Amino acid sequence: MSSKFSNIRRVTTHQLQAMKIAGEKISMLTAYDYSMAKIIDSAGIDIILVGDSASNVIAGNETTLPITLDHMIYHATSVVKAVKRALVVVDIPFGSYQGNSQEALRSSIRIMKESGAHSVKMEGGIEIKESIDRVLSAGVPVMGHLGLTPQSIYKFGTYTVRAKEKNEANKLIEDAIALEESGCFALVIEKIPAALTKKITEKLTIPIIGIGAGPHADGQVLVMHDMLGINNEFNPRFLRRYAELHSSITNAVEAYISDIKSGSFPNEKESY
Ligand code: KIV
Repeated sequence: MSSKFSNIRRVTTHQLQAMKIAGEKISMLTAYDYSMAKIIDSAGIDIILVGDSASNVIAGNETTLPITLDHMIYHATSVVKAVKRALVVVDIPFGSYQGNSQEALRSSIRIMKESGAHSVKMEGGIEIKESIDRVLSAGVPVMGHLGLTPQSIYKFGTYTVRAKEKNEANKLIEDAIALEESGCFALVIEKIPAALTKKITEKLTIPIIGIGAGPHADGQVLVMHDMLGINNEFNPRFLRRYAELHSSITNAVEAYISDIKSGSFPNEKESY
């Protein structure tokens, strides 16, 4: 790791803003447990997202909808214990903020108080502005999430690229401006055309973090299980795999089974 911001002791929303201004890209990755959070924090990641993708990669659900606020607090609490440097953002799960700003405030306060996380993330634009405003007014930093918002998957119908049409692209730009005006400290934009990401990143002063949104965003986020190749059935075009842990783990477990069956594990040195 070598950058102007490598040696900071704690990543804050202000430092993320400074990274955008300095043109330094922001790195973000999901984590859901203590051990993995400890590894990725020590490696120097800037933001750890306790994503509601835990519903998919940890709980095995088809969508992010079933995960509850209690589940998210459990994951966030484990992650926060491990993290020394990164800013920890926690997804407020489906049904815990939409259309009811008091509930959004209650959910955010529970996340911040019970897990010790540093900020929350909510999916949606102008339609959830009241909730965002209310949470921000309590002093809780909010990250927005626009484009393909997985909590609305039954409205979209598919996981295909969003905002390819002019109307949807214009609405996305309006939403992004509204979230910046509300006071969100950053936005995730998911699965939209690269040219639209460029436009939004240049227009907005807050950091824009892309996933499947091309190279022009101020930073990038991926789901940890996808980038480490733990989940080998998910192969979208935007995903770059940095490890093939599915096959590494399979090979290790097969070798372990084989050593037990052959009687070669444990050996004398591994015994008391
Ligand atoms: O839940 C999650 O992992 C996310 C990322 C895809 C940004 O929201």
